[in-house]
Amino acid sequence: MTRHRHLAFVAALISLVISVIAIAMFFIGHKWLWFGAGTAATILAIHITLFHTALGLGGLSAFGYIWRWLHSGRSADATTPDTTGRVIHWAFAYDLLVWVLTLGRERAFREKTLELAHLAPGESVLDVGCGTGSLAIAAKLCVGQTGTVNGIDASAEMIARARKKAAKAGSEVNFQTAVVETLPFSDHAFDVVLSTVMLHHLPDVARHKCIEEIRRVLKPGGRMLAVDFGGAADKRETRAGRLHNHAHFDLCDLIPTLHELGLNSIESGAMGFRDLQFIRAAS
Ligand SMILES: C[S@@+](CC[C@H](N)C(=O)[O-])C[C@H]1O[C@@H](n2cnc3c(N)ncnc32)[C@H](O)[C@@H]1O
Repeated sequence: MTRHRHLAFVAALISLVISVIAIAMFFIGHKWLWFGAGTAATILAIHITLFHTALGLGGLSAFGYIWRWLHSGRSADATTPDTTGRVIHWAFAYDLLVWVLTLGRERAFREKTLELAHLAPGESVLDVGCGTGSLAIAAKLCVGQTGTVNGIDASAEMIARARKKAAKAGSEVNFQTAVVETLPFSDHAFDVVLSTVMLHHLPDVARHKCIEEIRRVLKPGGRMLAVDFGGAADKRETRAGRLHNHAHFDLCDLIPTLHELGLNSIESGAMGFRDLQFIRAAS
């Protein structure tokens, strides 16, 4: 083992010990410590543990390998359809990531999204690239018993977790594994199509196809609400917004394509969450 790997493993071990001590403090009653310096120390220690473990497992290339595997467009199993989009297979960790990125305000983020979509009872809704289903489950509460909500995602793992969350919430949402390039629905099937932080996961050709498909499945007069990263790359306020895959994407660049594909009455603006923007359009 090379010297740097050896050191990396030692650092990982030390960080792990710090995490365990901080967690133990919580359980043995030193809650004040946990809520103060303990929380910061634990988060830092977990990051350092993961970082050094990855280094120890093979240098920075291990990070690249794991990152590519996690975001791979390849099928994770026979049930995952082919797509050129970046599919996420780590469903549980994704929910944790959203919690961290929204600073624990995921519910408010979802509510703001649904407010912008102007959902009404009885409407039919489709969430494309629905991930673990949080938005679709919240949407079902807005459309009520008479409304329907469908969610699709290319990741079988995301769909499995979404179904589990819906069952736990007693929510009737239809989740299925499918790709946005070929939506498994008939023409004019939905009043509303939602897309949150999904479009930046698609290369140009797939994104164009996705918007065509959204237009196809929307009823005449139906609405699309898309939320994604936007604004000038050098003006992004958050680390997430400046990440390579996010910084090169500006939701508002899609407005001409939306017009071209027959989506009009376009409104757009800042979500007020991180560097996210929204676009609302009607078919
Ligand atoms: C950043 S996540 C957003 C998930 C969810 N919309 C949310 O707001 O939490 C992007 C999602 O798009 C999915 N995805 C990527 N390419 C796709 C495709 N071609 N068809 C369907 N889903 C896709 C990924 O698997 C992932 O779940």
